[in-house]
Amino acid sequence: MIQAPRGTKDVLPQESYLWQWIEQEMRTIAEKAGYREIRTPVFEHTELFLRGVGDTTDIVQKEMYTFEDKGKRSITLKPEGTAGVVRAVIENRLYADTLPIKAYYINSPIFRYENPQSGRLREHHQFGMEFFGSLSPSADAELIVILLALLKRFGINNLAVHINSNGCEKCRPSYLEKLRGYLKPYRNKLCDTCKIRIEQNPLRVLDCKIDADKPEVRGTPLMIDYLCDECDEHFENLKAILDKIEVPYTIDTSIVRGLDYYTKTVFEITMQTKGREMALCGGGRYDGLVSELGGPVTPAVGFGLGMERIILEMSNQNILPAAPPILDVFVCNLQKEDQSEAFLLSQLLRQSGIKADSDHMNRSLKAQFKYADKIGAKFVVIVGGEEESRGAVAVRNMNTKEQTEVSKNNLIQFLLEKGN
Ligand code: HAM
Repeated sequence: MIQAPRGTKDVLPQESYLWQWIEQEMRTIAEKAGYREIRTPVFEHTELFLRGVGDTTDIVQKEMYTFEDKGKRSITLKPEGTAGVVRAVIENRLYADTLPIKAYYINSPIFRYENPQSGRLREHHQFGMEFFGSLSPSADAELIVILLALLKRFGINNLAVHINSNGCEKCRPSYLEKLRGYLKPYRNKLCDTCKIRIEQNPLRVLDCKIDADKPEVRGTPLMIDYLCDECDEHFENLKAILDKIEVPYTIDTSIVRGLDYYTKTVFEITMQTKGREMALCGGGRYDGLVSELGGPVTPAVGFGLGMERIILEMSNQNILPAAPPILDVFVCNLQKEDQSEAFLLSQLLRQSGIKADSDHMNRSLKAQFKYADKIGAKFVVIVGGEEESRGAVAVRNMNTKEQTEVSKNNLIQFLLEKGN
């Protein structure tokens, strides 16, 4: 038996309605705020992620699905959504259009070679929003507010907003020097990758899956204490907006985020689940990434939200919506040998927007009724009975078990009216 690769998950017909439902809510909330959908390829040139995400990050060093294609190019399955969007913005010169650019992606497959566990997959799917062209902290606040409204809509309440500032290219270098100086004496306590990272990119030691929780690493100097005036002002203004719109948040100096592109604001929204804290989404500013990847200087901010984690948490909290009925109407024919009239009628009903089907399994009438009940059909229409001579059919309401004679001419209107 061939099984699905470790860390992947099927979405089966009986649960796909949950995905469609959360997707619809995500689209609605994004489009209400003027974001339009962007779709980028599932794979990109590896170099995009080396330069975009950063070649000293855990994601790039340990988790990417990278392979050589038949043309000998190094290709990588998207390990995150932002770099591809930035590449598309630059390649298609979207920045030359009216700013800001507000884009969202949905159900985007993301691949990371991680240790699978509850809420952590090797293929997961993200809803993300990216906002290009604005330096204003109101853009950062907009994303946080949208996220909270979305999560509230899903009924997830046990949330905490964590914010921090990662500084910028002006203030970060001197902080990194401090960090290097601090970490060097502990070099031997760190993993082999982090020993090298002290020199190359000491910030990455702070979110290394092996070293981040070691007491030596927890006591490092904090970026927030070394912000330049511009970053400090941005952070203060963001906090002022969040205070004004009464969004509760905590300043969490431990958030560094596992990707290199962040500048200024970084944030995560976490939930308490089964005794541990799990991030539902994370994001922040990346004011340098568009220019780093060859475009003009364009500030930007965005987030990514793990869609599996939403469904998992809703399931844990028992707040998943009930499955809708598969069909509105099941059409049966009393004459078992001839199902063609039932077949034709079901096609006609579909054309009027009614979800309808007829028997394809050669079942007895009793078995057809049982099947109709099982799939939750609201009505069974019976053709070929004594009503036939009056140009009518029998319609049974499967909830009330009430049976009515309805003229064929009025059938569609009857079903549309009663079905709602
Ligand atoms: P990220 O924090 O790496 O950020 O991922 C975003 C979200 O994806 C996480 O908060 C989590 O819910 C979900 N996630 C991450 N890894 C897994 C996994 N292995 N299994 C299941 N869910 C997972 C980014 O990817 C950035 N691109 C976000 C961003 C957009 N920043 C700016 N714009």
